[in-house]
Amino acid sequence: MNVIAFNGSPRKKNWNTVTLLENVLKGAAESGAGTELVNLYDLDFSGCISCFSCKKKNRKSDGVCAVNDDLSPVLDRVRNADVLIVGTPVYYGTESAATRALLERLFFPYNNYSKDLKSQFPRVINTALIYTMNVDLEDLKNYGFDHHLNLTKKMLDRHFGPCELFLSVDTMQYSDYSKYESERFDAEAKLKRNEEFFPEECKKAFDMGRRLVTNPA
Ligand SMILES: Cc1cc2nc3c(=O)[nH]c(=O)nc-3n(C[C@H](O)[C@H](O)[C@H](O)COP(=O)(O)O)c2cc1C
Repeated sequence: MNVIAFNGSPRKKNWNTVTLLENVLKGAAESGAGTELVNLYDLDFSGCISCFSCKKKNRKSDGVCAVNDDLSPVLDRVRNADVLIVGTPVYYGTESAATRALLERLFFPYNNYSKDLKSQFPRVINTALIYTMNVDLEDLKNYGFDHHLNLTKKMLDRHFGPCELFLSVDTMQYSDYSKYESERFDAEAKLKRNEEFFPEECKKAFDMGRRLVTNPA
């Protein structure tokens, strides 16, 4: 069983998104899966360029993106994955720019504009979407971010298979709040939450990794 996970945060070590992803992959590995973590900010790639090669009637294969860049070999590996996980910080109410670019390239080739919207991905697999963000659950709703996050969840459901949504709210943004502008945050509360609650979230992420592998779609 192959599990592939994408980190859409430019912060690749010890920060919120990557730490949760590492825990998911640990859970998956302990359940016997082979795992791969792809740091999107290590790759030079673009979003969809609207070339429509994947929609040509005489195309050689379905579900293949014609753009040739660092993401191309990774998309080939997604084709063989049994579990697909995307983790991203929330930037302006949505995914980070690199994650958006990934999602365009992931989804569009498998979407053939058929009336029934049937995905061209060859199998149904488990998927998961991890978001980390500054706001708490209440503001997530107040600002309307939940609408967008649920939309992306539905896209993963539809193109690849059932998607678990994992929301990590009220995250710690700086390790030392005194060094940065941060008037609107309660630094002490952030630190406390990080120390007391984040380890629990890591455990939940680990359990999710196990679940994704042991209960195939
Ligand atoms: C450019 C930028 C935009 C952000 N926009 C939001 C936002 O709209 N809502 C929010 O709750 N947090 C926002 N944040 C905070 C991050 O989502 C949050 O700190 C996240 O947990 C960072 O993930 P990381 O630690 O894995 O990098 C933003 C951060 C940056 C750098």
